[in-house]
Parts: sequence; structure tokens; C-alpha cells
Amino acid sequence: MTPHNEAKPGDYADTVLLPGDPLRAKWIAETFLDDARQVNAVRSCFGYTGTWKGTPVSVQATGMGQPSAAIYIHELLETYKVKNLIRVGTCGGLHESVKVRDVVIAMSAATDSTMNSMFAPYNYAPFADYKLLSNAVELASERGFTTHVASVVSSDIFYVPNGAKSYGALPDHGVLAVEMEAAALYTLAKKFDARALTICTMTDCLITGNQIDSTERQTSLEDMVKLALDTSLKV
Ligand code: HPA
Repeated sequence: MTPHNEAKPGDYADTVLLPGDPLRAKWIAETFLDDARQVNAVRSCFGYTGTWKGTPVSVQATGMGQPSAAIYIHELLETYKVKNLIRVGTCGGLHESVKVRDVVIAMSAATDSTMNSMFAPYNYAPFADYKLLSNAVELASERGFTTHVASVVSSDIFYVPNGAKSYGALPDHGVLAVEMEAAALYTLAKKFDARALTICTMTDCLITGNQIDSTERQTSLEDMVKLALDTSLKV
């Protein structure tokens, strides 16, 4: 047990899906997992374990942003010894090639957070696990999703002052979307020799102001969660 997690050793499966929102974690467990049981409710940051197609899988909410997510991720890795972490979330579009509803699979993550420089020197470049990445890309293409395998920027600021321009030349260098957790996830996963991936649906375009509506948000989320669950079965 940890200050933020009341689960007992063995309560988490080797694979954990990581949404930000606690109620989304509950929805994922109830909608997709068989025999789901709640393993954590500390601070209402819910965690569940069940099975997907017969294989044990957990889902744990992380809250928003790297400081919050890193707490849950660190504890899942250090205390609960989990092996595969897949963030399922939303992102903002920074490049005209990425349209709302597109799937962004984050190969690497730049960041404006100071957390990463404290973990690892040399402007360390956080990167996804290749096996999870290639599984997800293959499945997404089989399913006909419009997918971008790209770099993202994990930003500490949601309300940036100048839309996509706030990220300077990053979009010209293959950083196609902004979200708030991937860099810390990737850096921590490497430290603990675990696999990690971030899969996002682009919901808010920072160039045009286009946003996905609530019905489409739900459908896209279902597709993305199934993609993440199936990705985890092949490691
Ligand atoms: N910024 C950061 N994270 C996000 C955004 C955004 O605009 N949209 C969805 N996740």
C-alpha cells in the first residue's frame, strides 16, 4: 500500500490502462472488463482489475498532468510491479495534418515540465516501448483508423496563451499534438524496465479551434480503449 493507493500486492494485473479521469476508469472497467473489481478508491482516483478476452488487465486513473500522473505511475511500477502501462487519453492538435477524431500514437514526448530534467539529464528524450507501439500501429491500421505515429509535447499548461503558436517550432519538427502526461510516463517506465505507450484521440485543434462533439468523443473513446486493450494482449 502507498499514500495514494490502498490496493494490496497482486491486486493489479501486469497491464494497466491509464486514463486521466477517475470516472472514465470506472466506465472502462464496467464497459470492457469481465469480473471487474475496484482495487483503489483513495482520493477517488479509482483503480480496477478484471479481464479482457480472458487476460487480467487493470485500469487506474492518473488525474491530469505529469505531477499527478507520475505519483500513480511510480507507485504502480515500484510497489505493484506492473509491466505494461498504456495511457488512453485526449490531445490537442498542433499540426494541420491532424484532424479531430484522428488517433495519435506517441512515439516520443517532448516536454516543458521540469520533472523530466530532474529524472534524467542530457535533455533526455522520453520514448515509447517499441513492441507496444508496433502492436498499436498494426491494429489501428487494420481497423482503418486515421493514425499519426508522431511525437507529442507533454505540457504542464492547458490554457496556453497563443494556441499552437505557444509551442514555437515544435510542430515543424514532427511534434503533432499536445497532451499532459506521456513524457513522465515514458521516463518512469524506462527507469523501472517496464513498457509504456500513449494513445490519444485528438479532440481539440489548437490551430482551428475545432472540437469533437460529445457523441463522437464517446465513440472515439470506445475505439481507442479497445485498441489499447488488444495492443496489450500481444506483449
Ligand atoms: N492541451 C493539452 N492537453 C489536451 C488538450 C490541450 O489542448 N486537449 C486535450 N488534451
